[in-house]
Amino acid sequence: MEQYAIKGGNPLVGEVEIAGAKNAALPIFAAAAMTEETVYIDNVPDVRDIDVMLDAMRGIGVMVKKADRHRIVMNAGNIHNLTVEDDRCKKIRGSYYLLGAFLGRYKSAEVVLPGGCDIGSRGIDQHLKGFRALGAEVIIEHGLIKARAAQLRGSHIYMDKVSVGATINVMMAATLAEGMTIIENCAKEPHVVDVANFLNSCGANIKGAGTDVIRIRGVARLHGTEYGIIPDQIEAGTYMFAAAVTRGDVLVKNVIPKHLESVTAKLLEIGCEVEEADDCIRVVAARPPMHTQVRTLPYPGFPTDMQPQITVALALAKGTSIVTESIFENRFKYVDELARMGADIKVEGGDTAIIDGVGKYTGASVTAPDLRGGAALVIAALAAEGFSTVDDIKYIERGYEDFHLKLQSLGAQIELVETDKDFQKFKLKVS
Ligand code: UD1
Repeated sequence: MEQYAIKGGNPLVGEVEIAGAKNAALPIFAAAAMTEETVYIDNVPDVRDIDVMLDAMRGIGVMVKKADRHRIVMNAGNIHNLTVEDDRCKKIRGSYYLLGAFLGRYKSAEVVLPGGCDIGSRGIDQHLKGFRALGAEVIIEHGLIKARAAQLRGSHIYMDKVSVGATINVMMAATLAEGMTIIENCAKEPHVVDVANFLNSCGANIKGAGTDVIRIRGVARLHGTEYGIIPDQIEAGTYMFAAAVTRGDVLVKNVIPKHLESVTAKLLEIGCEVEEADDCIRVVAARPPMHTQVRTLPYPGFPTDMQPQITVALALAKGTSIVTESIFENRFKYVDELARMGADIKVEGGDTAIIDGVGKYTGASVTAPDLRGGAALVIAALAAEGFSTVDDIKYIERGYEDFHLKLQSLGAQIELVETDKDFQKFKLKVS
């Protein structure tokens, strides 16, 4: 089984180019299936979750071509099946965006109950509430979510919970409903805005994305477009924290600094220097990190998807830090693995990590429990004294393009190995 072999101790130094946002690309693919015309999508990240989604879409008759590594051409003029039950779709969250897309276009959709990282119960009640408010009948049967409507009509919907997925899904269905839909208490994440911009470029009439209230005037049809996906702020944030944890100096390129404000603010708080330009951010960590408090919140708060990465930094800071996870209830699974490297963290009540800084990590064999937790363990290993291995990297590959290659280009000693023999070879090479 593939794993990362890592020798820690080198500060990361250099430049790294950020790929397109996976969590914007997944709903944009679904939205692209709302028109029968051809759509060209650029800046698509080359990661596993994207492949799974595209394969599922091919399976129901969508023409999907990779024009180059990051450009997808899609035509959904010949969809022959509105039931998406590809087994691999259970593993990705984004597959449920086909519900909103097909409900809008065909007034009917059946999609397997979604999976994604095991970080909590991840309800879908707000999606279903939104679809029902638009006039759909929704049931869950044999592991499928089935939504159907004679007609979709605009409605006034108040989300009980701020949800990225529900905001996007209901916005997509409402795009092709009759009349005006107002969604209140929306998620404001950059990828919500990106999906709205994409749909508007196809002829939709969506206003207010990026605020608490989104207004959608339904249109009869959507047309083809050419669109570039926004940079992945979580990938960018991960390299920013990798610089902080390894006491490096990294220029993170192709980003929208505004999307990273909460991450930048925390890096400044823990003592890093952060310089912003139009489309890049440089992080210099001349000193060990300082302790602080952080609570994850919906955007523009500190992202839950950056919680493991900041915890890895704070576990090296002098003093006590507290990290509170307010979005998902099961997001500290990586903490037990980090303890193998010497971290001193107690998780209380499932949502609060009390961290006593230890000053240094020591290399160990660890297992990635999920996507972001896995990336955080790699960062810890890069700062640790000696050798580490990180197993179950399939999780990390779901969301990070060329992770080990980009880290290598920043001077990290990291390699993909399959056997113990490979690991021994790696040890000899870098010793
Ligand atoms: C998306 C991201 C994920 C990120 C999360 C929060 C994708 C594929 N995944 O996940 O990486 O961590 O946003 O930024 O884009 N909830 C309900 N009922 C619902 C919907 C959500 O109770 O109907 C709860 C969830 O269990 C969770 C919280 O609301 O506790 C936020 O979930 P949501 O914003 O929907 O996250 P996802 O869209 O699943």
